[in-house]
Amino acid sequence: MRAVGPPWYSRTIEAHHGGGVSLVLAVVNQKGGVGKTTTAVNLAASLAAQERRVLLVDLDPQGNATSGLGISRELTDRPTVYHAMIGDAEVRHAQIPTEIPHLFLAPASADLVGAELELVGEEERESRLRRALESVRGAYDYIFIDCPPSLGLLTINALVAADRVLVPLQCEYYALEGLGSLLRTIELIRARLNRSLALEGVVLTMFDARNNLARQVMTDVQGHLPGQVYQTVIPRNVRLSEAPSHGRPALLYDIESKGAQSYLALAEEMLQRHARETGEEKKAARRA
Ligand SMILES: Nc1ncnc2c1ncn2[C@@H]1O[C@H](COP(=O)(O)OP(=O)(O)OP(=O)(O)O)[C@@H](O)[C@H]1O
Ligand SMILES: [Mg+2]
Repeated sequence: MRAVGPPWYSRTIEAHHGGGVSLVLAVVNQKGGVGKTTTAVNLAASLAAQERRVLLVDLDPQGNATSGLGISRELTDRPTVYHAMIGDAEVRHAQIPTEIPHLFLAPASADLVGAELELVGEEERESRLRRALESVRGAYDYIFIDCPPSLGLLTINALVAADRVLVPLQCEYYALEGLGSLLRTIELIRARLNRSLALEGVVLTMFDARNNLARQVMTDVQGHLPGQVYQTVIPRNVRLSEAPSHGRPALLYDIESKGAQSYLALAEEMLQRHARETGEEKKAARRA
């Protein structure tokens, strides 16, 4: 994997966050089954538990974040992310409250499968989600976008709409190669479509400390992206895989479980990082 140059580390949280504007985080990895949805749902729930106002946007036609929060994908006549993207509805009409106070969901519907094809040939097809989210950016502290396992038009929409990219990474043999192509894609998006896009960080998921390869991959990722890998590591935990079938984030299913506790710790670490960045930017602004 190629080393990634400095522009990546430029962070402008104050610009996005200081003035009561949401920080938009795309949860991206083109590899399937690495823990994107589990991270999006449980981190969003954990931040909401800390009284942050959070919107989770389900941008995956599989609708796992939607069903994982106990919302049926079929029954709804209400607008979804699909309608917001094609301009038929506003996100504020699509958002639904969840069992967790402060946590709202913009659900996916099966229509989203067609969105990629429908948007081909349309104008500004890469910035549909960005435009759709504009009207709600003042209403939330955090907006998470759960992406499908590809780098297609839906994920590109997420990368154009986002301020930051959060990458869940499973520590296995091909993880670094996948990370390399993801980082190059993000660089392309930065160059062409979203200059302010930055890397939020990498979260290691389904981690098994007894596995030598997992430990090696962890060390490699930390070496390639110094300071960008979250110290909180998400272990493999059966409660995290059971919770979605109960339509609940792990903290409502079994708050004592290692899985629920590790996402609460991840939320805490994220809030501390962001508070530190805001503090540093304020100091820099005073010096300037
Ligand atoms: N830390 C964990 N411990 C145990 N099981 C986990 C953990 N994280 C995720 N899983 C399980 O692994 C599977 C894949 O996770 P998840 O759906 O979050 O991945 P994904 O990257 O969103 O997948 P896709 O690419 O299909 O959208 C799911 O069955 C999930 O419940
Ligand atoms: Mg998923």
